Amino acid sequence: MPPLRPLRLFPAILVAACGGGSSAPDARLLDGRATDAPLADAVPVDATADAATDAPPAPDAAPPMMLSQTGLYTDTAAKTLAPGVRAFTPRWVLWSDDAAKQSWIWLPPGAQIDTSDADFWSFPQGTKLWKEFVRNGQRIETRYLEKIGAGNAWTDWFAVSFEWDPTEQDATAVPAGVIDATGTNDIPSRNECRQCHTDARVPSVVIGFSALQLDVPSSDPTVLNLGALVTEGRLTAPPTNPVAGVYVPLPADDVARDALGYLHANCGNCHNPRSEVHAQVGLVLRQDLGHLRTATAWSQTLAYTTTVGVAPQHAVSGATAIVEPGAPTTSALHLRLTSTGGQRMPPLGRETVDPLGAETVRAWIAALPQ
Ligand code: HEC
Ligand code: HEC
Repeated sequence: MPPLRPLRLFPAILVAACGGGSSAPDARLLDGRATDAPLADAVPVDATADAATDAPPAPDAAPPMMLSQTGLYTDTAAKTLAPGVRAFTPRWVLWSDDAAKQSWIWLPPGAQIDTSDADFWSFPQGTKLWKEFVRNGQRIETRYLEKIGAGNAWTDWFAVSFEWDPTEQDATAVPAGVIDATGTNDIPSRNECRQCHTDARVPSVVIGFSALQLDVPSSDPTVLNLGALVTEGRLTAPPTNPVAGVYVPLPADDVARDALGYLHANCGNCHNPRSEVHAQVGLVLRQDLGHLRTATAWSQTLAYTTTVGVAPQHAVSGATAIVEPGAPTTSALHLRLTSTGGQRMPPLGRETVDPLGAETVRAWIAALPQ
């Protein structure tokens, strides 16, 4: 008998019923590659992933059909957070076509996060994370990750998004995603969650709840930052020697910090040395604590040494290097960040260009000495 894997399965009927009413989400579910051509071309994505992980029944692990079944709120209509649910804000955020976002975490009482690998935390079984998307004052979707297994594989997590009803009484699971006519309200399918959160790309599955992203000093005791996690004894290997409340002091140069922090959040989950994407293209945009603790300048970090003056492996018209010092318009990184075509980066999760992010990266490249 094969070893038992944690399974959290949507019955086929729900997948069909929650396709958003149009035929498009069903098509997306049947062929996960259809909407993700650039990524799928480069790195094979198992288009049958949802079907494969959803195959055998698991009587004791019925998936939540409604957001109100996940434990985020005690009163969903009134948006009353459940006890133990804590808000957090990553220092740098992913551009999501200008949506306003809010994240929360619930950790099992008394349980610790295994931080023996300081860069990729391992969360206790039972951990839940949510991320809510609001556009024009209207809740659109709330995404959900739950640690259902003991390990750190993608299959140890359950992932789905819930689409809010227009009156915001509750939100319904949409495992096949929703393609919205306006484009920017698309809700990713479970297969798309996997393309950014999979353990094959970011070993911890969780992306934004990390030492570097939470190392933001705060005098507000309700804010869940790195200092609060240390004080509350939540980390198995708490970082030491804080400098004025900061655990990982960053190199000077605010222009470089803003740009490389932005790239860390928006690109580092795929572009890091432990990601399968790294076998395709060698650039590293994720910051790691080892380099940051010893670096005296941003130019000593991998995001600099693997991009500045480095020839791109994949040709981009007009590009002379991944980052050409002083010349954003001939830098492949800037061209792809500001593209809305097939070469856009990231390859999914956005339709529009982030004006602020693009300007931040442009300013960094423009200021680099030639
Ligand atoms: C384009 C890549 C991408 C896709 C697709 C994506 N995510 Fe994420 N997600 C991120 C990044 C990057 C963060 C952290 C930064 C942020 O929140 O701005 C994040 C954060 C989260 C968080 C907060 C915890 C954490 O990991 O930081 C949850 C929960 C989450 N995503 C769930 C989902 C679910 C469920 C899906 C699919 C329905 C999904 N995501 C699809 C990139 C993605
Ligand atoms: C969901 C995974 C994913 C994310 C997130 C992502 N990339 Fe990529 N990136 C890829 C893949 C796969 C390739 C190789 C295929 C290609 O070139 O399109 C790639 C290639 C590249 C290349 C070409 C490198 C070369 O040597 O030719 C650049 C530049 C790049 N990405 C920049 C970025 C930037 C900037 C971001 C963030 C704004 C980003 N990527 C986010 C998956 C990703």
